[in-house]
Amino acid sequence: KVDVSQLVDNTTGRQSRSIFHEQDIYEQEQERIFGKCWLFLAHESQIPDPGDYFRTFMGEDEVLVIRQKDQSVKAFLNTCTHRGNRVCKADKGNAKQFTCSYHGWSFAADGTLQSVPLEEDAYYNELDKSKFGLHPVCKVDSYKGLIFGNFDPESPTLDDYLGDMKWYLDVWLDAMPEGTELIGSTQKVEYPVNWKLPVENACGDGYHIGWAHAGVMTVATSMDIESLSLGNTKVDSSTAMAGGGMNGHSIISSLDGQSGYAFYPDPSLPVSYLEENRETVISRLGETRGKQFWGSQINMTIFPNVQMLPGLNWFRVYHPKGPGKMEMWTWAMVDKEMSDELKQTVLDNVCRTFGAAGMFDNDDGENFAACTSQNRGLQTRQKDVYTNMGLGKEYSHPEMPGVVSDGLVGEQNQRYFYRRWQEMMAAKDWSTVPNYNSLEEANATRGQN
Ligand code: FES
Repeated sequence: KVDVSQLVDNTTGRQSRSIFHEQDIYEQEQERIFGKCWLFLAHESQIPDPGDYFRTFMGEDEVLVIRQKDQSVKAFLNTCTHRGNRVCKADKGNAKQFTCSYHGWSFAADGTLQSVPLEEDAYYNELDKSKFGLHPVCKVDSYKGLIFGNFDPESPTLDDYLGDMKWYLDVWLDAMPEGTELIGSTQKVEYPVNWKLPVENACGDGYHIGWAHAGVMTVATSMDIESLSLGNTKVDSSTAMAGGGMNGHSIISSLDGQSGYAFYPDPSLPVSYLEENRETVISRLGETRGKQFWGSQINMTIFPNVQMLPGLNWFRVYHPKGPGKMEMWTWAMVDKEMSDELKQTVLDNVCRTFGAAGMFDNDDGENFAACTSQNRGLQTRQKDVYTNMGLGKEYSHPEMPGVVSDGLVGEQNQRYFYRRWQEMMAAKDWSTVPNYNSLEEANATRGQN
């Protein structure tokens, strides 16, 4: 196994470039991160009825997520137990059974092998079909609409895995009584980019917004938002926060109650919805989250590869496809209570900003691709890169969980993301993975694994 102890140093914010390039490190990520962490499978709204299925990935493993007759959800490796073909080629749909296109073995929605062509004449009725069901993902659970799977039977519960991050996730997932849904097609884009780079970007990098997106912001911003300073000419620390620690999960959030809608050509429809329901949200979540957060620009990250942005309303998962390649899947996420007109407005804006041809993603994609490809150089890859902005400025907040620092511009969350990456990569099993949420716990568990 790769010794990862020298590849990340969170006391200085240093990362070795090899973590974005080396094949053996990538293979270890598949085993120790994507093989052990809870990974997003689907939103409940994507598979509401028995027989509904959705095809996705856990790391590089392709899986089929299926709603069962009793409304529970099961997930299976999407591979035939005969010779390994895909048993389902469609992205989503509803099926009573899944029949392999190679030799015709047929599997029920619960994964059991139902029928085998020529079972009597060719297998002499000696094939024990009970031993050839689809391979299940051993743990499937959900949190307020989001369904996750885990390959590791020894992993913590999903509830424990999300930990204090649930307090922040509820700002969106539990703001309204009926919850959320994903709308629109799955927008899939393949990038020549290491999967960690977009995660570290959206988990904490407010620094790039005023610079990398300066061009877009001159044409796309309908509000005068101080904390999104064009050209990085100003840091407004008083109206934004970053929350990290929390076992690698994180949030950055402006606290102005409106910047989430700054990139709508006309934000009047979402803003009026926001105002109409503000009291409802405050009554459900309390003053801090209901009043300050809802409507603000918020980036939420669930380690290792899920991100959602209330306000901009996109929901995204990154699937690794090799050290220098990843596939990014994006949907719009909305409250179920929203009118059809507002849902369409939200979807249109997601496509315009962060969809497959979104204005912002074009800026980001080019930068991420260069950050990845530069490491191919033998000399270059032996140098380090840094996330050392705001080192030592973290603090504990009386109400907000996690390790908190001020402002959208900072690198605290990126450091905690890479700290968790290192902890998972170093641990053979969950018994040696430290558990921390607050600043005190994070400090106490530093270097424990
Ligand atoms: Fe599926 Fe043979 S590979 S039936």
